[in-house]
Formats: sequence, C-alpha cells, structure tokens
Amino acid sequence: MASDKLYRISFFALFFVLCGCERQISFADDVQPIFLASCVECHDNSAEGYAASGFSLSDYESVMKGTKFGPVVIASSSISSTLYLTIAGKTSPEIHMPPHHDSALAAGRGTPLSQHQIEVIQKWIDQGAQNN
Ligand code: HEC
Repeated sequence: MASDKLYRISFFALFFVLCGCERQISFADDVQPIFLASCVECHDNSAEGYAASGFSLSDYESVMKGTKFGPVVIASSSISSTLYLTIAGKTSPEIHMPPHHDSALAAGRGTPLSQHQIEVIQKWIDQGAQNN
C-alpha cells in the first residue's frame, strides 16, 4: 500500500518536471508581476527611465511598443530582444537593467533580477511574446 502511494507520488513529481520544461509562460501571471515589481518605478509614463528612453513597462502594449528608437522585444527571439539582453547582462554595463552599476544613468540603484526571473522573461519572448 505504502509503496503504491510512493510510486504515485514519484510519478506525479516526474510529470511536473517534464511539463515544467514545456510550460507556457503567461504575460499576465508570470511576466507582468516582475515588470511591476522591478521596472515600472522608473519605466512608467512619468519616471526617469521613461524620460531617458521613452520606454514604459506598465502594460503589454507599451512593452511591445518599445523605446523611442523602436521595439525592444522581438517575438520568438530573445537573443535579438534588447529587453532580454539588458536584464541578462549581455549589453554594456551602462544599460544593464535594472541599473546596478555606477556607470548607468540611474547609478546603481537597482538589484539584478534572479536567474529564474530572467529565464521566465526569456521563455515568454521565445514562446512568441504573447498577451496571454
Ligand atoms: C532605477 C531606475 C530604473 C529601473 C528600476 C529600470 N530601468 Fe530601464 N532604464 C532606466 C534608464 C535611466 C534608462 C535609459 C538608459 C540609460 O540608463 O542610459 C533605461 C533604459 C531601458 C531600456 C532601453 C535600453 C536601450 O538603450 O535601448 C530597456 C530595454 C530597459 N530600460 C528595461 C528595463 C527593465 C526590463 C527593467 C526591470 C527589470 C528596468 N529597465 C528597470 C532606468 C531604470
């Protein structure tokens, strides 16, 4: 009896691990909370990140519209998306986001996102950057 239960528990654990790889990321449930917690203090329509770049992260439309120079999210290609490159530290330090270097315009006031948060955003872009 007990081993049967154990078998079932490990079956479900395996199921969740396998599904985790393919899980569809949701903009509303997974991505937006990260932006609201770590970005909009500087990137809504009245704050300094917006003033400097024209980039608001306050809703889906604004995120997809990008900066005054154009889009920073290229659907299905995180590696072409400035937004991903800045949070993953793959750009020059002045534009790492949130700014956590003294060389940035907003001098070292931010804390980098966790590896998990960076991966959530990367997957969301690679899965098509949908408003889901
Ligand atoms: C402390 C304020 C601040 C926070 C927090 C912040 N930013 Fe920024 N962001 C800026 C400023 C200022 C700029 C203008 C570029 C610069 O720093 O030189 C900018 C520019 C950008 C750009 C445009 C980069 C380019 O040159 O094309 C992107 C993309 C961006 N931020 C994304 C984010 C994301 C995503 C977050 C949250 C994870 C975030 N930012 C958090 C201040 C901030």
